[in-house]
Amino acid sequence: MDPIYEMKGLAFGYPGSPPCLRDLDLVVTRGERLALAGANGCGKTTLLLIMAGLLFPTSGTMAFEGRTLSESALEALPFGPRFRRSVGLLFQNPDSQLFCPTVKEELAFGPIQLKLPQDEVDRRVEDTLSLMNIAHLRDRPPHALSAGEKKRVALASLLILTPSVLLLDEPTAGLDPRSQSALVDLLGELAQAGLTLVTASHDMVLLPHLADRLLVLCEDHRVAREGPVKEILADEDFLQSVNLIHEHRHRHGPLVHSHPHGHGHSHDHGHDHDRLRALTGREES
Ligand SMILES: Nc1ncnc2c1ncn2[C@@H]1O[C@H](COP(=O)(O)OP(=O)(O)OP(=O)(O)O)[C@@H](O)[C@H]1O
Ligand SMILES: [Mg+2]
Repeated sequence: MDPIYEMKGLAFGYPGSPPCLRDLDLVVTRGERLALAGANGCGKTTLLLIMAGLLFPTSGTMAFEGRTLSESALEALPFGPRFRRSVGLLFQNPDSQLFCPTVKEELAFGPIQLKLPQDEVDRRVEDTLSLMNIAHLRDRPPHALSAGEKKRVALASLLILTPSVLLLDEPTAGLDPRSQSALVDLLGELAQAGLTLVTASHDMVLLPHLADRLLVLCEDHRVAREGPVKEILADEDFLQSVNLIHEHRHRHGPLVHSHPHGHGHSHDHGHDHDRLRALTGREES
């Protein structure tokens, strides 16, 4: 077991806000696929930002390859640049990540920063456009793409730098089923190739395909449970207790029945059945 991240007693609070991560002990092993789950606001994105070296713990420790991650460590040579090259973060909102006039320039930006020779930059851009199935978008402005296209371009802009760790914040959200499945396949291939993948996701259906181990954060910002994905996902009482699934009531003819319901499938679920009934005074059929 080769630990890549080691967190001990980690806590974090945004300035002027109460802690949104508390008492976190976590070791991420090189090459593993770990998922982060938990209700909205429990701290998944914050944890990924800390793992990406964009935020720093307010207490406790966080090490990457045995070295404490701090602002000064990231400014030091050769650790800082090596860390930045090794770790890629796919933001929950791809607009936070895309800023170039065209997709092609977006992909070339990182390799140019690394001062790679122009022919190597061109080769990587072409390879990555084709790997991510976005060659047809090459001259389009990223800000004018659809949400799913933006996600693909944002991920491409990370992969072009051949990172060894990918931090993925809700990577499948907003993708159509075919794009979701293509992404799951791609992430599987990257894991096979030895990348370490840490994925925050609410998608109870895709989680077992995205990770082997699951860390569930609860709404008081502590770890609720950690273990094999399939084992945790089989525990419906636990999933309800941490707000990852909820009781879903249906009426089938005269019978109203309820069953636990996750939000894995992309379906329209914009209303609350009980509230609808109270407002309209009638049952749904
Ligand atoms: N920039 C910020 N300043 C202050 N508080 C913040 C900031 N960003 C997030 N928070 C708060 O920190 C907590 C954790 O937020 P975070 O975005 O990490 O949650 P999350 O688990 O990723 O949620 P979601 O499932 O909605 O993406 C929330 O209470 C949120 O309101
Ligand atoms: Mg989030």
